[in-house]
Amino acid sequence: MNDKIETLFTEDQIQARVETLAQQINTDYSERSLVLVSVLRGSIFFTTDLSRRIRLPLAMDFLSISSYGEGSEGVVRITKDLEENIAGKDVLLVEDIVDTGFTMRYLMRTLLSRNPRSLEICALLDRRARRIIDLDIKYVGFEIPDKFIVGYGLDYKQQFRNLPYIGIIQPDKLS
Ligand code: IMP
Ligand code: MG
Repeated sequence: MNDKIETLFTEDQIQARVETLAQQINTDYSERSLVLVSVLRGSIFFTTDLSRRIRLPLAMDFLSISSYGEGSEGVVRITKDLEENIAGKDVLLVEDIVDTGFTMRYLMRTLLSRNPRSLEICALLDRRARRIIDLDIKYVGFEIPDKFIVGYGLDYKQQFRNLPYIGIIQPDKLS
C-alpha cells in the first residue's frame, strides 16, 4: 500500500522537530499550569511524543470533534468534550494540521469562553496555502504544500494513521 505514499518527513525528522518544539514549550511554560488538549484522533501520536519530551508538570485532556463535509466549512461540533475544567489553566491545543482554520477558530472560541489563563495552538502541520481564517499559531512543526497528507496520526478514510512517517498520498490512485 505504501508505494502510493511519497515520504515528506521521515520518522527521524519528525522526532527531531518534536524535540525542538518541546524545548520551546519547556522555556515558555515553566512556572505555569500547563494542560495539553489533544484534538482526537489525528493528533494522538504528536501529543504523546510531545508530552514525553516536555520536562514540566502537565495535565493532558482530550476532545473529539466532527466536521461536516464539503460545502459546510466551519460547521464543527464537539463529540467528546474535555473531562476537566480549564478555567485558570494555561491550555495548549495540540492539533495535527491546520488547513482552512475553521476547526481551530471554533475550538479557540469554545475554549476561550471557559476562561483559561492562556490558550495557544501547537500544530504539527500548517498548510497555509488553504488558510481562510486568520489564526495565530504559536508552535508549528512543519509547513506543508497543498497536497493531501497521511501518517503519524493523519488518515485517509481512517487508514494510514499508524505510519511512523508523514507522506503525500494521491487519493485518486486509491480504490
Ligand atoms: P480545517 O478546519 O480546514 O483547518 O481542517 C483541519 C482538519 O481537517 C484537520 O484537523 C484534519 O483532521 C483534517 N485534514 C485537513 N487536511 C488533511 C490532510 O491532508 N490529511 C488528513 N487530514 C486532514
Ligand atoms: Mg484534526
